[in-house]
Amino acid sequence: MIIQNEKDITDAVCAEMAKTPDLRLRAVMESLVRHLHGFLRETRLTEEEWEFGLAYLTELGRATTPSHNETILAADVLGASSLVGFLNNAVSSTETEPALLGPFWRQNSPLLSIGESIAKAGTPGLLMRVAGRVMDDRGNPIPRAMVDVWQADPRGLYDNQIESLEEMNLRGRFEADDQGYFHFLSVKPAGYPVPTHGPTGALLRAQKRSAYRPAHVHFMVSAPGFKTLVTQVFADDSEHLDNDVTFSVLQSLVATFKRHSELDGAPYGIGEPWCSLTYDLALASGESRIPVAPITC
Ligand code: BEZ
Ligand code: FE
Repeated sequence: MIIQNEKDITDAVCAEMAKTPDLRLRAVMESLVRHLHGFLRETRLTEEEWEFGLAYLTELGRATTPSHNETILAADVLGASSLVGFLNNAVSSTETEPALLGPFWRQNSPLLSIGESIAKAGTPGLLMRVAGRVMDDRGNPIPRAMVDVWQADPRGLYDNQIESLEEMNLRGRFEADDQGYFHFLSVKPAGYPVPTHGPTGALLRAQKRSAYRPAHVHFMVSAPGFKTLVTQVFADDSEHLDNDVTFSVLQSLVATFKRHSELDGAPYGIGEPWCSLTYDLALASGESRIPVAPITC
């Protein structure tokens, strides 16, 4: 089709794409083009702004490395990752609500025995005991479910963010017992700013936004016959619960990380001040699928 004026372009592109044999690809691309063109018309984007936008996308790619995923970070701070999570995980009142995977999950973290610590020797911080039970959405235990956990340290850093931090620290996988129970030791995490050295940080600064996430522990729970649950549990005494830069905090995911004196620790062999988090995780029936890791090292 010969283009007569600006208004023809959207239909011309869609007509050209109409032969796409994959019907889902066709529908998604048509919607993308219609919304993109609508956005360009609505904002009357200037050529300078368009060039800037394209250079920005290029920078997202350039800033992405095997150990850092800037593209996911940008999607997270725009609320897009959380929205996709909501749209694809409509949960019943008895399932645990999901939260985004984030850019820091690493595949194949150490397989530990129940009760072991994910904090390697010398990790600073308040000792934390985490316990819970993996269940289906009717409250029946899911025996031998795999509970993959990861978290930041009390300075708000993940192991792979700084060369000097110990490899795979504060990450681990636990197989729940025959009744679905698991527990492990760690240190209380801190809230932290998402990485701001790249184009995502530049955007946050331009928008005068906080880069912080509240303190949390990540969980990925999987078992055959159940939809993999990816979620985060947030400390109720943390700052930034109401302005998480990634829009992930749901009320049901806020829990008390209860403080104890060393006197309470005897049953667990704990002889120092500590805190405890007890949180059960309920999975829906479905296909067990492990996400693609956002980073490879
Ligand atoms: C995280 O919780 O690990 C995270 C999520 C989104 C952006 C940055 C970090
Ligand atoms: Fe995190």
